[in-house]
Amino acid sequence: MKPSVLWALLPALLAADSVYGTFPISQVQRVTNGPIVPNQFIIEVDTIANIPTKRSFSRSLDAVYVSLRERSVGFDVTKEFEASGLFVGASITVNSAQDVAAISKTPGVVAIRPVVRIPSPKPVFSHVTSGPSDPQVPPDSESTHILTGVDKLHAQGIIGTGIKIGIIDTGIDYTHPSLGGGFGPGHKVIGGFDFVGDAYDGTNTPIPDPDPLDQCNGHGTHVGGIIGANPGNPFNISGVAFGASISAYRVFGCSGSVTDDILVEALLRGVSDGQDILTMSLGGANGWTESTSSVLSSRIAANGKIVTIAAGNDGSSGSFYTSSPGNAINAISAASLDNTVIPLQNATVGGVQHNPITYFATFPLNITGSLPIFATSTDTTIVDDACNPLPDSTPDLSKFLVVVRRGTCTFVQKLTNIAAKGGVNTFIYDNGNGFADIAVGNFTAVLIQASDGEFLVQQFAAKVNVTISFPQVGGAFNFPDPNGGLISSFTSYGPTNDFFFKPAVAAPGGNILSTFPVPLGSFAVLSGTSMATPFIAGSSALLISVKGKSSAVTSGARTLFETTAKPVASSKTDGDPLQTLTQQGAGLINVFDAIHATTIVSPGELILNDTANFKPVQTFTVKNIGTTTQIFKLQHVPAGTALTTQPGTIFAADGPVPLSNTSASVTIVPSTLVLLPGRTQTVVAIFKLPDTLDASTFPVFTGFIQLVGPTVSQSFHVSYVGLAGSLKNKQVIDDTDVFFGVPLPTLLDSAGDVQAGPTNYSFVGDDVPTLLWRLAFGTAAFRVDLVDSAIKFTPTIQTRALSGFPFFSFPSPHAGGTFAQVKLIGSLAEFDFISRNNDDPTDNASNTFTLSIPSFANGTAIPNGQYRALVRALKVTGDPTNEADYESWLSPIVGIEA
Ligand SMILES: *[C@@H]1O[C@H](CO)[C@@H](O)[C@H](O)[C@H]1NC(C)=O
Ligand SMILES: *[C@@H]1O[C@H](CO)[C@@H](O)[C@H](O)[C@H]1NC(C)=O
Ligand SMILES: *[C@@H]1O[C@H](CO)[C@@H](O)[C@H](O)[C@H]1NC(C)=O
Ligand SMILES: *[C@@H]1O[C@H](CO)[C@@H](O)[C@H](O)[C@H]1NC(C)=O
Ligand SMILES: *[C@@H]1O[C@H](CO)[C@@H](O)[C@H](O)[C@H]1NC(C)=O
Ligand SMILES: *[C@@H]1O[C@H](CO)[C@@H](O)[C@H](O)[C@H]1NC(C)=O
Ligand SMILES: *[C@@H]1O[C@H](CO)[C@@H](O)[C@H](O)[C@H]1NC(C)=O
Ligand SMILES: *[C@@H]1O[C@H](CO)[C@@H](O)[C@H](O)[C@H]1NC(C)=O
Ligand SMILES: *[C@@H]1O[C@H](CO)[C@@H](O)[C@H](O)[C@H]1NC(C)=O
Repeated sequence: MKPSVLWALLPALLAADSVYGTFPISQVQRVTNGPIVPNQFIIEVDTIANIPTKRSFSRSLDAVYVSLRERSVGFDVTKEFEASGLFVGASITVNSAQDVAAISKTPGVVAIRPVVRIPSPKPVFSHVTSGPSDPQVPPDSESTHILTGVDKLHAQGIIGTGIKIGIIDTGIDYTHPSLGGGFGPGHKVIGGFDFVGDAYDGTNTPIPDPDPLDQCNGHGTHVGGIIGANPGNPFNISGVAFGASISAYRVFGCSGSVTDDILVEALLRGVSDGQDILTMSLGGANGWTESTSSVLSSRIAANGKIVTIAAGNDGSSGSFYTSSPGNAINAISAASLDNTVIPLQNATVGGVQHNPITYFATFPLNITGSLPIFATSTDTTIVDDACNPLPDSTPDLSKFLVVVRRGTCTFVQKLTNIAAKGGVNTFIYDNGNGFADIAVGNFTAVLIQASDGEFLVQQFAAKVNVTISFPQVGGAFNFPDPNGGLISSFTSYGPTNDFFFKPAVAAPGGNILSTFPVPLGSFAVLSGTSMATPFIAGSSALLISVKGKSSAVTSGARTLFETTAKPVASSKTDGDPLQTLTQQGAGLINVFDAIHATTIVSPGELILNDTANFKPVQTFTVKNIGTTTQIFKLQHVPAGTALTTQPGTIFAADGPVPLSNTSASVTIVPSTLVLLPGRTQTVVAIFKLPDTLDASTFPVFTGFIQLVGPTVSQSFHVSYVGLAGSLKNKQVIDDTDVFFGVPLPTLLDSAGDVQAGPTNYSFVGDDVPTLLWRLAFGTAAFRVDLVDSAIKFTPTIQTRALSGFPFFSFPSPHAGGTFAQVKLIGSLAEFDFISRNNDDPTDNASNTFTLSIPSFANGTAIPNGQYRALVRALKVTGDPTNEADYESWLSPIVGIEA
């Protein structure tokens, strides 16, 4: 159960192929996994007026503390949050699970949520340049600014002057000449705070200090440059809002994760420091809008700030998988678009007539002279080239440039086999997976395109003496990215499980050149929704520098960006549908059109929801804020329908999510608008579900109602999203054997084997039970209760005579009672709003809960005896009080014999 997953663990980048077979169950770690910090909770308290107390207190926290002490609850306060109207509460450490149960029942406590760990924001890939004077990198053509109209705003002198942006990230290297070279009032980086210190990794004690300098990580410095890099540097780049003032709130150390209580602190500090905009390029896959950091971000956005947050880099995991806190309802969740050019390097071919070969590296490989080539196979269709040790006949490869085909095993495995024969330098040629950066550990190897690799192998097979050389100067090439201008495949897909429109809008985030800490090279090319997010923060600064900071402007910013965005195609093939809005949001931001719009269309999102909650009649308003009469034609422009579930299975379709061109139909009234200056008119759109779609694929249909004006820049759209199926029919618990080869859920015994019959556990050493399960879809409530072993009950999920066990240690406020006339002896675990799993064993493939001591979730010891565990998961949109809305599973007999 990991509501959070790492940003950047895209299988396609880690492995040569993202194909997994059955994963061996013996490799499952028998520990409770997930990002929850044991014994730490964030409580939120009510206003003092609402707390019944005998004495008078000036702070509601004090009233609650006294109440807690009266109940003999043991707790330590780690942090207090006192932002009246936004968030009043504390981060606390409790002594026992009983204490948590007591706290949740204490008057004045309105919420208690476990402290959650959020992984560090890893870019999808990175190249670090060797220095700003490096002659090899081609100057950036400011392609990202041209794509979005930012260049035209800069030409008008609109650069974000007077706007304050808070960046919550890894800190910033303000010593960088392009970032102002200093810290404090009068500099570009006017302030900030380091909440954690260099050594913090998410598991140790943070050591705060006032200086948010980042010279060891770099992510926040790259983000900072996208917002604020001054023009006039050797790379010809500039930030979107280089006139704005930056404050850096450092929440990550040099590596590792952060706990969300620190995020709460940083967000509230940003508010109290008077930032106009807060931006967070961080998060973990989640699918829900309810995490502490999502809820707080949304409140801050509703209170006059613009909050921009990354949608996530989990596109390969498919739909309903956007990140928290990016799912914050009122925030702007950022999708990424691939830049049109990638700064790469060319190698020169000798011995035969051939064009230079472009290889995927920002800087030339440090290889002098010409190398002859050696191909590990002369068959260019071999799928597992060099996945096994090379044959004895292989010569010493140290003097060759080795050529090997991508596929089946990891790049590192191929390179290890090549190194075993002395190979040092390698070209890996693509197998159709895509020309991109690859993870090669510390080997010297780069990816080249399939056609170049096939040519080299053919020459080798024909015994032509081909050589390759690597010009150290003059090989730089602005490679026109074939996917340039499309949504980056790594962008996470929405919508949220509760059907909010995430991501909201796209900005350039793939292959972005920006600043990097001076000791780490000064400039780097990174990719990720992390890079798109500050672009939208900078765009927001341009907007409010022109329109002012009123709440009408800040709360209308997302709608304005959405309604003026430009639709993005799903591919470069004619006839293919527009990209699903569950990945592109409302399209590519156009900041010039947003700021100069003379028509205001609102809302920007029409949420049709699923068939059980279908809202077919939608309205929006169109207001002419210009000085002349405006005439619009209204038309329906469907985008691709995302087939979110693999046909005939319960599993999410991995990204790129297959699209269908079967769309909804819409009646738009009126179909033409004539608006005098100052006038507002309402438009009604009546939707009819797409027919002929297979409801078992849970198709999410999306598209635009377009208002076609006299010019493209005067055209607008509202975006819609709906599901041609009912989410309550979506199976939540994976009851198949697809992933591990054994049906799930299951219990693992002391040896890590599937518990096949009644088993007693002594709770000595490893002799403890572990529940292993996967979720095919998110759930708002997952509960594990102990029930009598002799229970008569037919669960919805039938597996063999196995035993189910508990979940997360979140004491249940719902403990006790009955379920289907079954008496619940006690709660072992409960967790709210959890994400589904994906199919990456290195990431978020399964959940485990180990009952390491025989106690209920509230800490009370379980009496020795024979039990079963009842596992329940609430279906999405289900009623938590309705038993029929749960899936359930009953474990085999578990003996507690401690
Ligand atoms: C530098 O960027 C500007 C836009 O700001 C562009 O007009 C110019 O062509 C760029 N210079 C080079 C050498 O690419
Ligand atoms: C780099 O290689 C590509 C592909 O062969 C070629 O089109 C381009 O002109 C080359 N550029 C330079 C600077 O060598
Ligand atoms: C390139 O390699 C040579 C010798 O292997 C080494 O001396 C030199 O420092 C390297 N240059 C760079 C920029 O890494
Ligand atoms: C490369 O990395 C591996 C492990 O990641 C390490 O054992 C090895 O020593 C490294 N080799 C070099 C040359 O740095
Ligand atoms: C390639 O080089 C080898 C060794 O230098 C030589 O024997 C052979 O004739 C050359 N082949 C061709 C096609 O030039
Ligand atoms: C969609 O419908 C469900 C069930 O009524 C509701 O809980 C959810 O909030 C709705 N989503 C939106 C975005 O309105
Ligand atoms: C829809 O897609 C199908 C198959 O992909 C294609 O044959 C058909 O022409 C498309 N229809 C339209 C209206 O684009
Ligand atoms: C478990 O322990 C109980 C009580 O000692 C005993 O009756 C039962 O036979 C044991 N079950 C197994 C499978 O060993
Ligand atoms: C803990 O839960 C068990 C099982 O529901 C119950 O019997 C016990 O009274 C609870 N303990 C406390 C302190 O609430």
